[in-house]
Amino acid sequence: MKIILMGGPGAGKGTQANPLVERFHFPHISTGDMFRAAIKEGTALGLKAKSFMDAGGLVPDEVTIGIVEERLALPDCADGFLLDGFPRTLAQGSALAGILERLGMKLDGVINIEVDEEVLIPRLTGRRVCRKCGSSYHMIFNAPEQEGVCGQCGGELYQRSDDTVETAKNRLNVYNTQTEPLIAFYEEKGLLKRINGDQPIDQVFQDILKALG
Ligand code: AP5
Ligand code: ZN
Repeated sequence: MKIILMGGPGAGKGTQANPLVERFHFPHISTGDMFRAAIKEGTALGLKAKSFMDAGGLVPDEVTIGIVEERLALPDCADGFLLDGFPRTLAQGSALAGILERLGMKLDGVINIEVDEEVLIPRLTGRRVCRKCGSSYHMIFNAPEQEGVCGQCGGELYQRSDDTVETAKNRLNVYNTQTEPLIAFYEEKGLLKRINGDQPIDQVFQDILKALG
């Protein structure tokens, strides 16, 4: 299964990626996670990405497309993958089409998790993420059993530096202007599957499975 997970910031892409990976056993390719790992390791990629991410803007296309191209060419993607947070611009969408063609691959579907803007901001500001395994929690909607501790691995939970109200608003603006045009791009290709993301997490997952057939 070769799938793209789309949706605004905080729509629930990372949250749904976990059970999807458990079900389909494919690699989870999140450009946001790749950039955060690079920043933590202090690599050249991390240095390039940091200022854009801190401002809630997009990392330049040429940087992002390059790392995805390298990742998709690895053997573990041959039978399937889950792209999360990529593509995010029309240029990335066109580049991805070229990469897949060169690799002889075809997308099975593009899941668009749809959530109204007024729901997204509180989701972002209340989010806490595990330092160790990356699991996402929410202080109100998806609270860990023990405050500040990951229920999956016992790791420490922290707040992402781009989950402040101001940066979250910037990310929403960027999504509306630069990423939303991709919805029509994939609809025209007959690949788009719209999912109501303003439902309990399990129900969203069931709807995604149904949409994927
Ligand atoms: P990235 O990490 O991709 O961030 P994002 O797209 O803004 O998405 P999020 O991770 O914030 O949200 P999500 O949809 O995964 O939500 P989650 O499941 O955690 O990108 C970060 C930055 O990296 C970008 O701003 C950019 O700078 C850069 N970047 C990344 N990719 C790039 C690209 N392709 N090109 C250029 N730059 C790029 O859920 C959110 C919260 O809601 C959680 O607390 C969760 O518990 C809760 N929640 C989830 N589902 C539900 C539900 N159904 N009901 C109630 N609460 C829920
Ligand atoms: Zn964890």
